[in-house]
Amino acid sequence: MRRLEGKTALITGAARGIGRAFAEAYCLEGARVAIADIDANSAATAAESLGAGAVAVHMDVTSQDSIDAAIEETVEQLGQIDILINNAAIFTAAPIAEITRSDYTRVFDINVAGTLFTMQAVANHMIARGIRGKIINMASQAGRRGEPLVAVYCASKAAVISLTQSAGLNLIQHGINVNAIAPGVVDGAHWDGVDAFFAKYEGKAPGQKKREVGEAVPYGRMGRAEDLTGMAVFLATEEADYIVAQTYNVDGGNWMS
Ligand SMILES: NC(=O)c1ccc[n+]([C@@H]2O[C@H](COP(=O)([O-])OP(=O)(O)OC[C@H]3O[C@@H](n4cnc5c(N)ncnc54)[C@H](O)[C@@H]3O)[C@@H](O)[C@H]2O)c1
Repeated sequence: MRRLEGKTALITGAARGIGRAFAEAYCLEGARVAIADIDANSAATAAESLGAGAVAVHMDVTSQDSIDAAIEETVEQLGQIDILINNAAIFTAAPIAEITRSDYTRVFDINVAGTLFTMQAVANHMIARGIRGKIINMASQAGRRGEPLVAVYCASKAAVISLTQSAGLNLIQHGINVNAIAPGVVDGAHWDGVDAFFAKYEGKAPGQKKREVGEAVPYGRMGRAEDLTGMAVFLATEEADYIVAQTYNVDGGNWMS
């Protein structure tokens, strides 16, 4: 028996990386998935590669009009939304002295306001239809503590953990579970960018930071997107009905809380 048979999901930032792996895992478990991304071409390619269970939806989580339109299109194509994964995010790094207001605003617009207002709009859809839905926000080990060169991104992910707590407590009265996943270091395009930032600010050779963080993981290597799919499926099933407002570390043992 597939664990998400008959369910529908909207996954933001699912054109590549972790979001795409979530979409694939959900399809394999019988869900139909909207791959929502600002990169419409890559979203279309991802949806095509996943077959009939997936559709591509253009969505910019920094625009309320785009959030509303993406939800409308998803409902048109899939009927309703049972599961939301707020996965879209960007990374930035700089020493405190060099942080710019525009960089801060961009990161908080996508990572924090994007998460909050997508969650709000989908929760309103779920409440209006009496859907006892599941919302999963993507936090990070970066939200558990600050890092010297990563103030803005760390603060944005700490905000996601906090929003998950408040929304989780508020929405459970409607039977909507809000929880989060905090990955550690997951290899892919995102971490290629992180590696480049550290090459710039710490004078490291390309690839060096990746090697160092991989060796420091208690499990013994960097994570892969597939390492996170088990938790994303579980949190979307009825087995997780009694789990409210939590953030789960899926990070090979990097952080304990
Ligand atoms: N990769 C890691 O090591 C790691 C660690 C901890 C947490 N995370 C979190 O996991 C999630 C996925 O990470 P990833 O590594 O797959 O990232 P990624 O950069 O590979 O993918 C992010 C996706 O979000 C999309 N996106 C960016 N801005 C958008 C916007 N305004 N509206 C809609 N879509 C937008 C991008 O087009 C891209 O497809 C993120 O929330 C990230 O912060 C990643």
